[in-house]
Amino acid sequence: MSNRMWGGRFASGPDAVMEEINASIGFDKRLYQQDIAGSIAHAKMLAEAGILTTEDRDAIIAGLATVRDEIAQGTFTFSRALEDIHMNIEARLKEIIGDAAGRLHTARSRNDQVATDFRLYVREATDMLGAQLRTLQSALIARAEEEAATVMPGFTHLQSAQPVTFGHHLLAYVEMFARDAGRFADARARMNESPLGSAALAGTSFPIDREMTAKELGFDRPTANSLDAVADRDFVLETLAAASITAMHLSRFSEELVIWSSAQFGFVRLSDKFSTGSSIMPQKRNPDAAELIRAKIGRIMGALTSLLVVMKGLPLAYSKDMQEDKEVAFDALDSLSLSLAAMTGMVGDLVVNRDNMRAAAGSGFSTATDIADWLVREANVPFRDAHHITGRVVALAEEKNCTLDGLNIEDLKTIDARIDSRIFNVLSVEKSVASRTSFGGTAPKNVLAQVKLWRERLKDAE
Ligand code: ARG
Repeated sequence: MSNRMWGGRFASGPDAVMEEINASIGFDKRLYQQDIAGSIAHAKMLAEAGILTTEDRDAIIAGLATVRDEIAQGTFTFSRALEDIHMNIEARLKEIIGDAAGRLHTARSRNDQVATDFRLYVREATDMLGAQLRTLQSALIARAEEEAATVMPGFTHLQSAQPVTFGHHLLAYVEMFARDAGRFADARARMNESPLGSAALAGTSFPIDREMTAKELGFDRPTANSLDAVADRDFVLETLAAASITAMHLSRFSEELVIWSSAQFGFVRLSDKFSTGSSIMPQKRNPDAAELIRAKIGRIMGALTSLLVVMKGLPLAYSKDMQEDKEVAFDALDSLSLSLAAMTGMVGDLVVNRDNMRAAAGSGFSTATDIADWLVREANVPFRDAHHITGRVVALAEEKNCTLDGLNIEDLKTIDARIDSRIFNVLSVEKSVASRTSFGGTAPKNVLAQVKLWRERLKDAE
């Protein structure tokens, strides 16, 4: 049997393999709510424009509500022969309300329909991810406040560089996640135009009101070019690009958690809820959640790459290739949402080992820069010379196998007579971090000020 929806000129139905490769119902059933919302808006508009009677409109809207309930309750029977969510819903509508169902598809096409549905879906996803990012930021801010004065080694090249505060380190991620939320918001603003009524590609001869459907669906305005409207998937690409960058940030953070929770670092302990044991090595606590979040970037940026490749050679307007936009996007957005939830849980439950952090912060001559800065500030030594003098101080400590604040003043004076005992004021890691009060610096005081600022900003964003 040929397809009931478009089979007028076909003598026979599709080959089984054709049906399998062509069908999208297996994954686009996810769009049912958006599809029904779009159809209801369209039916209202058609009636308003005098294209549909009010009786037909009411029957269509009531019928669509029934279909929505059936799908939500799991009693709807999806058919692969009906290809996709659009035709599955329309066919069922016909069973429920009869011939009026056939009038719904006036002045539209599946091309503008799917573009509309998917925009609505991706728009919701960006809103949800934005909210999840804010929740994660709040969790980080709460921990940053607790750890505002906790000293840890700051690294460059993963070598101990200078002491920093753990609160400052956590707030670095708050900044990153703020940019991520901004990217989702930017993408949302650009995607918020309604393709509905662009029809197959050229617009329609019916006197439709695209402003009305746009408004009904919460779009800012209708898209201005029908060809672009049905051929465009930038809204998915931008969202996947934002998702990839977010996932990259989550992956870096996960990597740090994996390192910090190792026995060798021992900076943090992940809670039982977010780690697993080994079946043969009883001493192990594996940071599985962090590892899995670290890995999710693979499929998320894979989705971006995949869709860029799908789109890159397509002539205008719609091509069936574009049906390949959904599975990867669904998977990527689901993966990111799950990763954000898991990261938020881990941050909340994290047990910080302040003693280990402090001990590590004091090793590796991490306050050497403070000696050089002291020489510049207190003895008017040019920084380059101060750097050289400090290098000799470090070499001496190395030779004596002690920390910088373990050296005595006589030894220091033999290196440079301009050094006096006041230098001990900058040699401890606490003094070092407390002195970093430049804007954006790591001092506990700065951390608390930023925590306050962030709390206000997040409140404004609500
Ligand atoms: N299932 C299709 C998709 O996801 C809907 C649009 C089909 N349009 C068409 N002309 N065959 O892209």
